Amino acid sequence: MSLPDSQNIPLDTLISVATDAARQAGSVLQECTRTGFRIEHKQIINLVTDADRQAEQRIIDIIHDAFPAHRVLAEERGPIEQPPSRYKWVIDPLDGTTNFAHGFPAYCVSIGVERNGHGIIGVVYDPTRDELFTAQAGQGARLNGVPISVSSTDHLDHALLVTGFAYDIRETQNNNLNHFARFALKVQGLRRTGTAALDLCYVAAGRFDGFWEVKLNPWDMAAGVVILREAGGKVTDFKGAPHSIYGQELVASNGAIHQAMLDVLQEDTTS
Ligand code: IPD
Ligand code: CA
Ligand code: CA
Repeated sequence: MSLPDSQNIPLDTLISVATDAARQAGSVLQECTRTGFRIEHKQIINLVTDADRQAEQRIIDIIHDAFPAHRVLAEERGPIEQPPSRYKWVIDPLDGTTNFAHGFPAYCVSIGVERNGHGIIGVVYDPTRDELFTAQAGQGARLNGVPISVSSTDHLDHALLVTGFAYDIRETQNNNLNHFARFALKVQGLRRTGTAALDLCYVAAGRFDGFWEVKLNPWDMAAGVVILREAGGKVTDFKGAPHSIYGQELVASNGAIHQAMLDVLQEDTTS
């Protein structure tokens, strides 16, 4: 089938629209911290704020102006009927909503672009530090324009890892607490920042050596995995099989400690 957007769009054009959208959404978030925002509960510990919705609308408006035929998967709007397109934008307008709602400055805007189902662009913007992480397939990853790469830490004893927990932590056994307990005894340090997109970027930048989580959503990972891969990192599921942003498991690392992380995760599932 010939799609209306069968011409390839230059990656530079896509990243410039994604960057503009991420920065504008970041301004919306920061404005909300000054003027105030309403908090609603999706579930008991799962929040959404006006800021999430306003930032998302700003991003969608910018994408639709530039590329009206492209598909968009955005967290707060959810899946909707759209005509087919080779391009899909996957958006988390505010990754780290719990932090944001508490005034804890660890949150970001995450925008990924897929072409024919493959991630080709990643943009993650942290407005609290004015840090912009970007990557285009095959062209490396950058932080504020400067190339970044993963760490060279090669043993868990020296590794700083990060993880997170899904909002169903109280309702399921598959809540990652077993993996957390096991890793805590094997690594130099373990963190839970509350923003998966930044966690991926921090592995990409060598600030963390590895990250794992279960039950993330595509919008948490779409941009970050492109950035991580382009920074020389590795991302798989818990068995070492290829990672999908539509799957349940994510292990992201500098490559050097990847197998050691898989060993801990597999040990845990068989005990
Ligand atoms: C959450 C964050 C958190 C992760 C959760 C996500 P949200 O996203 O990325 O770090 O542990 O699983 O749902 O709700 O703040 O956009
Ligand atoms: Ca998120
Ligand atoms: Ca979010």
